[in-house]
Amino acid sequence: MATIESVLNESRIFPPSPEFVQLANVSGPKDYQKLCNEAETDFQAFWAQQARKHILWHKPFTQILDDSDPPFYKWFSDGEINVSYNCLDRHLSTQPDKTAIIFESDDGEVIRATYRELHQQVCKLANALKTHNISKGDRVVIYMPMRIEAVVAMQACARIGVIHSVVFGGFSSKSLHERIVDAGAKAVITADEQVRGGKHHALKATVDEALNMGNTESVKTVIVYRRSGCEVPFDPPRDVWWHEIMQHTGTDCEPVWVNAEHPLFTLYTSGSTGKPKGVQHSSAGYLLGTMVSMEWVFDYKPSDIFWCTADVGWITGHSYVTYGPLAIGATQIIFEGIPTYPHPGRFWEMIDRHQVTTFYTAPTAIRSLIKLGGDLPEQYQLTSLRLLGSVGEPINPEAWMWFYEKVGRSRCPIVDTWWQTETGSHMIAPLPGALPLKPGSCTLPLPGIFAAIVDESGHEVELGKGGFLVIKKPFPSQIRTLWKDPDRFKKAYFPQEVAGGQYYLAGDSAHRDSEGYFWIMGRVDDVLNVSGHRLGTMEIESALVANPLVAEAAVVGKPHEVKGEAIIAFVVLKGDFPQEKDKVRIVTELREWVAREIGPIAKPEEIRFGENLPKTRSGKIMRRLLRTLAKDEEITQDVSTLENPAILEQLRQAH
Ligand code: PRX
Repeated sequence: MATIESVLNESRIFPPSPEFVQLANVSGPKDYQKLCNEAETDFQAFWAQQARKHILWHKPFTQILDDSDPPFYKWFSDGEINVSYNCLDRHLSTQPDKTAIIFESDDGEVIRATYRELHQQVCKLANALKTHNISKGDRVVIYMPMRIEAVVAMQACARIGVIHSVVFGGFSSKSLHERIVDAGAKAVITADEQVRGGKHHALKATVDEALNMGNTESVKTVIVYRRSGCEVPFDPPRDVWWHEIMQHTGTDCEPVWVNAEHPLFTLYTSGSTGKPKGVQHSSAGYLLGTMVSMEWVFDYKPSDIFWCTADVGWITGHSYVTYGPLAIGATQIIFEGIPTYPHPGRFWEMIDRHQVTTFYTAPTAIRSLIKLGGDLPEQYQLTSLRLLGSVGEPINPEAWMWFYEKVGRSRCPIVDTWWQTETGSHMIAPLPGALPLKPGSCTLPLPGIFAAIVDESGHEVELGKGGFLVIKKPFPSQIRTLWKDPDRFKKAYFPQEVAGGQYYLAGDSAHRDSEGYFWIMGRVDDVLNVSGHRLGTMEIESALVANPLVAEAAVVGKPHEVKGEAIIAFVVLKGDFPQEKDKVRIVTELREWVAREIGPIAKPEEIRFGENLPKTRSGKIMRRLLRTLAKDEEITQDVSTLENPAILEQLRQAH
């Protein structure tokens, strides 16, 4: 593992410049320490103070943390708010004409929306939802391209207390179906197509496929935004056009005040079993997490042009496109396309065109751009940038240095932010005006976040030793439960074996160096991180065995230069062992199959065939051996418990 070795050898330190420190919201280590001390002294009082400072309360809370039924923690639970009010209305008296969103389409068209305009759009759609009998507590699935309308759809739901569940536009009809059914959605909001990198991908047709798979009677309305104008199947009265319903509704919509704990959204993510988990977030606690991190980690200034490149289909797009930047009143970029179209300098060109100050992206994007044109950023000015950010997977020091030198011109701190769908907002990340950076480390926890590394029984390990990453005390933006599955929530995140279920178990391994800095090593469960996307190995295995040709399948990850991890599948076919001439065809067929079952992001990089899989005498697949085979390394592990050692040779040669 080149990445881990280079991380372990990393000793460079990059303090922020005096100019950056001087202007920073949290300026210098003493400011940071002061916040941490306040949180240490009384973490509830600390969070209450932040909640009063950042959120506009319709009804102020009197209770801070309700921990009477752990791990079902509640924050500010007798308070009332509306998240959309906090993101939009609050700015109408102070900065209605400030640009909220600068949108750039795939082919370069630029559209701007002010806070006033965004508010009007959101109110109109919220009113339209109401006329379709959608109200507080109902669920709406959003399957949209990365455009202003996706944000409008999410905010419109929030405005009337409707729980949204966004499904990434790259997921297949089957994945979409599974999420629609689990959520019991009353409506789906979609578009005719999405356009990325010059290519058109059907969305409405995929929604129709999903709705035809059964058990979807709950869906009474499908709202279709016209993106490309292509012909789509249309089935009124269920199907309605976005532009038509928006014509008939007013631009004012009273926000529906909800309890602080009212679910704002669910978002499905992969776990170690086959079925994706519906992570459920609260309204107030979640919003607070996004706002404090905008202030602390992104060091937000009113003059910033903020750009988070994540799609709203992922948690990063929820927290740092739809909610955090709007709540804090920022101007942000939304980009429909991909970094390499029509040329690999698109990101850098856009940073110059829109004078972006804060640029937040994923290591996988950085690595692919290095590959396509390592010196390309030199052709651009990039002088507007003042802060860079990274999220989604460990960033290898080589990519970090390139980002720092070539993009940030050794001027801009990089905030490497560790967090998860479940944590809702940043957990471990540098406050850039306060902490020196080390390439590859996400540095120290945010004030009020009590992160630690423990052994299997929950005891903290000494500095330098690896272990499980946990968060010891509740925090406002944390997951509340798994949608309709409280038992799974408890078992997955607060297992009894680890400190009696007191700690939030992240599912990552990590260690801390002599200064206490955190270094994330990767997942400890059967979850892969492919190009920053979380995928369960069991999910991909279930998809493979659903193919009529496949008898058995095991999926493991292998380090990959650009993607971080690549998916390798070991497959046993039902019939005879495939002949050489048939292998390519079957591999193509299975890859396409997985794309249809889950989505193109889950396509295995490599498929190897065997007559069997390496198993213990009790029939358990020995995955650690498969991981070694996938990396083409010599097997040095003990294979004495293996039922069928000869299979290793066959699988080694199988590609
Ligand atoms: O393994 C960690 C990795 O991504 C996982 C969370 O994935 P997801 O819920 O999809 O959220 C991604 C965006 C927040 C974590 O368990 N991860 C995320 N950020 C980092 C990271 N690993 C190392 N460094 C990071 N900065």
